[in-house]
Order: sequence, then C-alpha cells, then structure tokens
Amino acid sequence: MSLFFSNPKAGFKLNKKKILKSLGNLIDSGEYILGPNVNLFEQEMVSYLGSKGYFVSCANGTDAITLALLSYNINSGKVIVPSHTATASVAGIQKAGCSPVFVDIDSDTLLMSIHEVERALKKHNDIKAILAVHLYGTGININLLKKIAKKYKCIVIEDCAQSHGTKIHGKQAGTIASAGTFSFFPTKNLAALGDGGGIWVPSKKIRDKAISLRQYGWNKNRIVAYDNGFNSRLDEIQAMILRIRLKNLNQDIKKRQKIAQTYQAKLSDSFKQISYPEYQSSSFHLFVVKVKNRRKLMSFLAKNNIYLGVHYFPSNHNNGKLQTKRFSLPITDSASKSVVSLPIFPELKKIDQLRIIELLNSFYDKQKI
Ligand SMILES: Cc1ncc(COP(=O)(O)O)c(C=O)c1O
Repeated sequence: MSLFFSNPKAGFKLNKKKILKSLGNLIDSGEYILGPNVNLFEQEMVSYLGSKGYFVSCANGTDAITLALLSYNINSGKVIVPSHTATASVAGIQKAGCSPVFVDIDSDTLLMSIHEVERALKKHNDIKAILAVHLYGTGININLLKKIAKKYKCIVIEDCAQSHGTKIHGKQAGTIASAGTFSFFPTKNLAALGDGGGIWVPSKKIRDKAISLRQYGWNKNRIVAYDNGFNSRLDEIQAMILRIRLKNLNQDIKKRQKIAQTYQAKLSDSFKQISYPEYQSSSFHLFVVKVKNRRKLMSFLAKNNIYLGVHYFPSNHNNGKLQTKRFSLPITDSASKSVVSLPIFPELKKIDQLRIIELLNSFYDKQKI
C-alpha cells in the first residue's frame, strides 16, 4: 500500500454513504446554484468560527483572497506576503490588481517574519494590505501584526487555506483581522470533492460587497453595482459535502494533532523540527521538518511506497515571471531547499505512522555508519 503526505480519498470513503444519499436529495430538489446548501454552509461556518461576522463562500481559495481585497476596495498598490507560501497566495493578490512585496520568514517557525513585515512597511509607501499566511496550520501572531498594520494604515487579511481549526489567541484563525480567506481544495483540513473557498468578514457592508463581486458585481436586482465582479460561486454539491465534513472537522484536527505529537516524540535529531508558538494551537495541516539530503531521503522512502511532499520549492520570488526581479530572501532560500512534508491526515493508522518513522530514522542512522 502506498502512503502519501496527504490522502483525501480516505476521508471521502468514510463519508461516501452520507454524501451519495444527500446527492440524491440534491438532484431531486432541482436547486443547483446558490441554493439552500450554500446558505446553510455559510451560516454553519459562522457558528463554527465562533466570532460575530459573516461567511461568503466562493469557488476556490485563490478567489477568496481576491474577493477579500476587492471587497475592501483594494485593487491596486502593494500587498505584503511571505514568499514561502503556495503560489495561490500570490495569484490571489495579482488577480485583484495588486503586486506582491515578498518578505522573509522566521527560521524557527517558517512563518512570515513580523520584523521583516515592519521593515517592508518602512521601505514602501503604497502598501495596502498584509496577507498573513498561517502556513502548515501554524498561526501567525495576528494581534501583533494588527498593531503594526494600524500604524501604517493598512489592513491584515488572514490566509487560512491551511489553517481551518487553528486557534490563535484563543480564537479561530480567520476571525481576528479584517478578513479570513479559506480554501476547501480536497487536501485541506476541510475538504470539498473539488474546488471551493470562502471568506469570513466582520461587517455586513463588506459581506454585501463580496456577495455582489462573486456574481458579476450584481446587486439584488441583478443590476451591476460593481464593474470588477466575476463568477466565483460555490456549487450546491460542494456546499452539501462541506456541511457533512464540517461536522467532523474538530475530531479530524484532534487526530492530526495526535499524529504530530507522535512525530515530535519519535523522530531522531536528524530531523530539524519547527517551533510552534505558545499563543496558538496548530491544526497541523502539514507536518514539516527540515532535513539534509532531501532528494535522497525522498527517493529512499519512495522505494518503500511512501511519498513525501515539498512545501515549497521553488519559492515564489524565484518562480515564473516574478524571478525576473531576482533577489535573495536568505531564510526562505535555505528552508525551500530543506523542508519536507511527512504523511499526516486523520485516517493515518498508528501502525503505518510507526513504520514511516522507523524508515525515516533508519535513513540517517545508515548514513552515520
Ligand atoms: C496558503 C494557501 N493559500 C491559498 C490557497 C488557494 O487555494 P485554492 O487552491 O483553493 O485556490 C492555497 C491552496 O493551495 C494555499 O495553500
């Protein structure tokens, strides 16, 4: 049996009967776009997130970032973002008409360095927003970021594509700043059977604008109220599935946290573990360590049918068109060469995890001989 760093099929197989039954009901209902499931899912997300506010679903997590920016009238200027994140974080900024200002990460947590954010704010005078990516499920210190952002009159948006269920300062990630953006891509902590996304916002005014922008810029009477609208609706089918899976989210996160604890306790010192700050509780979307000889380690594991991931190489400032402005972010550059993502998903069996750990440790033990 092959084991990958993530296994969306396992979660769907557990829910297959419920999903198929609900799909039958959905077909019979005749309501396929922006119907009752989308409505209810949005309400259920608000109560899951537990803060006063609104949830607006959309087609994917990249659009969620774009929608959040546009809903705050940010359609030009610069947005601070770590280079060490998914390409999607950057694509969402660019789609809104903004350009990314890449900052380096903290070497212990691999999260965007708040010190570097402040340096960028001092250097550039047209920064409109900071996209705070809660990478791998670890929460950034949002309260501190908000204080700094206020001084420079820009807003903070939380990119929660990897952090459904992460708690920061005792609150759910995504509900602490001006907006929280979510992806429901099948590998995420809360997974759709395809693409899906959404944003949490604290005010009705911003929510109404996001609702309009996600559907051509229409108002309630189908008159165009904003001319930069697009089509980014969440399907009824995906909303129905997400409602089923949301019920298990807390339990799934507990399982991820338990798997992470086992790795933390049993991996040898050859694996440089990342730090998890006290003010937050990680949902462990990914379990990432830094290693030497990454390529060799990965091919050794692959020979044993275990497939590790790399999040991320190349980094965004060295990728695609953006690399034409080549510059160095030393900690990002070094991390991108050594990070590796170990299998973590709620259905991972203890016996399989112990075999993975044994193989991982044995790879470096052999090298010492
Ligand atoms: C950090 C981060 N932001 C944004 C996204 C965008 O999500 P989507 O793939 O749903 O557009 C992802 C998904 O890969 C992500 O990992």
